[in-house]
Amino acid sequence: MNEEFLKSFDGTREAGAIASGTLDELNTIIKPGVTTEKIDKVCYEYINDHGAYSAPLYYRGFPKSCCTSANHIVCHGIPQNKILRDGDILNVDVTAIKNGWHGDTSRMYLVGDVSVKAKKLIKVTYESMLKGIEILKEGSFTGDIGNAIQTHVEQQGFSVVRDFCGHGLGRKFHQSPNILHYGEEKTGEKLVAGMLFTIEPMINEGVYNTKVLSDGWTAVTKDKLLSAQFEHTVGITNNGYEIFTLSKKGLDLPESLK
Ligand code: MF3
Ligand code: CO
Ligand code: CO
Repeated sequence: MNEEFLKSFDGTREAGAIASGTLDELNTIIKPGVTTEKIDKVCYEYINDHGAYSAPLYYRGFPKSCCTSANHIVCHGIPQNKILRDGDILNVDVTAIKNGWHGDTSRMYLVGDVSVKAKKLIKVTYESMLKGIEILKEGSFTGDIGNAIQTHVEQQGFSVVRDFCGHGLGRKFHQSPNILHYGEEKTGEKLVAGMLFTIEPMINEGVYNTKVLSDGWTAVTKDKLLSAQFEHTVGITNNGYEIFTLSKKGLDLPESLK
């Protein structure tokens, strides 16, 4: 990799650390009774205290600093005065911009006591993201990522959302390539060292179809069954890959699912 790539990796590493540090911070506050607005406030403050900006804030008119997607919300839920209740599952998605570089990551949180089936959905979603990451190397294809994810998810009886995908990022929040979370091996784009992108599978308990609510953002499952998502920002290196958004505290997956 040349100078230019090393610079983009250094920048993304810093942005990624702030984004994942934000999610670490949320572990102490997410419990029954908290509002998604409070979660947004903690995200806003952590990101700003670390000399970064929130990428979602005012992005295409999005009003908040993170996305909060509970239960049957697939993605892009807007933080508001909604109170989280015992048994809810919640995805929080954070993107920090540091020195112009983007770090984008999301995790699932358990609110109080969560059902066995919700836990299984979350665990399978996390495993599928890792399976998509493990195959990364120069010469692999974007379709290999989707295939690894889809194979695992469907074996476990769940479905892969088609309407949203992972994405290249760097100085821009969203750019090529699109990273589909389903598909065939050896299709799509060939991976080369220096590429930066996200892997962020959204996995549904029932059908994979989604619809967007009248707020223009909130995407929900068509059958109102549960949905889960995890997201890491990754880069292709000379000898494999780097994950930029790992938790420095080991909080990538809720403790009770390990
Ligand atoms: N962070 C989301 C992603 O993973 C995008 C959120 S865009 C927003 O790509 F405007 F909804 F915040
Ligand atoms: Co993303
Ligand atoms: Co994201």
